[in-house]
Formats: sequence, structure tokens, C-alpha cells
Amino acid sequence: MGLLKDAKSIYKRDPAARSTLEVILLYPGFKALLYHRFSSFFYRHKMYFIARYLSQRASRKTGIEIHPGAKIGEGLFIDHGNGVVIGETAEIGNNCTIYHQVTLGGTGTQKHKKRHPTVGDNVLIGAGAKILGPVTIGNNSLIGAGSVVLNDVPDNCTVTGMKARIVKMYGQKVAPSETLEHTKVPDPINQELMKIMETIKEREKHLQALIEELNHKISELECVKKKYEQKMEIDKNEDIQHTE
Ligand SMILES: CC(C)(COP(=O)(O)OP(=O)(O)OC[C@H]1O[C@@H](n2cnc3c(N)ncnc32)[C@H](O)[C@@H]1OP(=O)(O)O)[C@@H](O)C(=O)NCCC(=O)NCCS
Repeated sequence: MGLLKDAKSIYKRDPAARSTLEVILLYPGFKALLYHRFSSFFYRHKMYFIARYLSQRASRKTGIEIHPGAKIGEGLFIDHGNGVVIGETAEIGNNCTIYHQVTLGGTGTQKHKKRHPTVGDNVLIGAGAKILGPVTIGNNSLIGAGSVVLNDVPDNCTVTGMKARIVKMYGQKVAPSETLEHTKVPDPINQELMKIMETIKEREKHLQALIEELNHKISELECVKKKYEQKMEIDKNEDIQHTE
């Protein structure tokens, strides 16, 4: 029943699909999911060899390698599929879309530890994107084609590039910093802090210019004051001479 739902959801989301039957019979992404449901069943019942056998068979037939240990939610659409690799401790939420050549890969070699990404609901991962390590991709986020993601991505963000950084949040463009290096991005808090620091620097420059102008005005006033005092002194002396 779950698989029929998956097939219907693929049909709805793929403009190229002509019918749900076509999806069931011809789509490698759907076949890979079908195999994964079985291999995952055997994996959970500790029949590791048969689980792995099924996942490798699926990999040969579809070009999509999903480790039986990976946890996959409902409505996953693996489009085209060839070259997709989903690692052992990867987790994928509901209604996600993954294009060909995507890797949800592990970092580290420790057994039975979380080494692969966790992907939220309604996430789109563009062709060729690599998400590496136990990072979290927030709900409704978009990972641009060809990106390499090494850090967590918050909800509702678009990230692109190698290494990926946030280019949009909630559909609004995030301006990149021109003067400061983004070493830890994607991180919206970091980016906001950088923007604040840039504003402070600009204000400091403006304040410095105002102080210089003020100092100039003060020295001008002092000159005028001196001249006035000198004139007063001269007038006073002239008055004294007159009275004498
Ligand atoms: C990232 C993506 C989902 C678009 O998301 P979006 O929120 O609509 O973002 P936009 O198109 O407004 O792009 C935002 C910025 O990122 C840039 N950008 C978009 N995709 C990019 C990518 N893959 N790599 C690098 N930069 C990218 C845009 O040029 C734009 O830059 P700018 O602000 O300097 O103009 C889309 O570009 C993408 O990569 N989709 C994957 C599709 C795919 O793999 N198809 C395969 C079909 S076979």
C-alpha cells in the first residue's frame, strides 16, 4: 500500500510520467525503493547477508545503491537515479526528491555510529549534490545541483556551491559578505553576525569622519576666537591712549 502511494506521488511530481503504471514498471527510482523495502525488512530482522544481497542486486539493476540500514520516509522520488548512493545511517524524511548522482555519504570509519546525513521532509537534492557526514538538512530546503554540503542546513533554505552556502532563506536572497570570509557556512546566524559587523564598521568610519570634521571646525573657531581677542586687546589699548 505504501509503495502504491509512493508510485502515485512520483507520478504527480514528475511532469514526464504518463501513468502510475509506467512509474511502477519502468522507473528505476521506484524499483530501487521496492527493493529497499525488502532489504530494510531483512536488515531490521538481522538477516544482514540477504539484506545486502538485495541492495546490491538493486544497485546492479537500477544504478541506485541504497544501504539496507538507511531509513527512508514516504513519497521519496529518485529521478533518473543513476549513480545515487545512500549510506547505511542516512535518514530521509517524507516527500523528498533526489536526482541522479546524489551521494548521502558517510565520514569517519567508526562502526555502528551515525556517519551519514539526516534529511528532513520535502527536501529537493539537485543532480550531483554530495551531502557528507552526519549533518542535518532542514525541512523544505533545496540543495542546488553540484553542491557539496558539509554543514547543517536549516529549514526553508536554498544552498549551492562547493562548499555549499545559503543563498536563500524562506525564498529571500541572502546577500553574501564582500569583506569577510564565510568559513563555517551554511550558518544563517554566522551570516547575520557578519552583516551586523559590516554595518558597525561602516558606522565607525562615518563617526570617524564626523569627529575629524568637528575637530576642524573647533580649530577654525579657536582661530576666530584668538583674532577676536587680539582685536579686543588692540581696541582696549586704543581706548586707554585716547583717555590719556
Ligand atoms: C538550487 C535550485 C533548487 C534553485 O533554487 P531557488 O531557491 O529557486 O534559487 P534561485 O534559482 O533563485 O537561485 C539563487 C541563486 O543561486 C544560484 N544557483 C542556483 N542553482 C545553483 C547551482 N546548482 N549551483 C550554483 N549556484 C546556483 C543562482 O544563480 C542564484 O544566484 P544569484 O543570486 O547570484 O543570481 C536549482 O537551481 C537547482 O539546482 N535544482 C536542481 C535541479 C536538478 O538537479 N535538475 C536535474 C534534472 S535532470
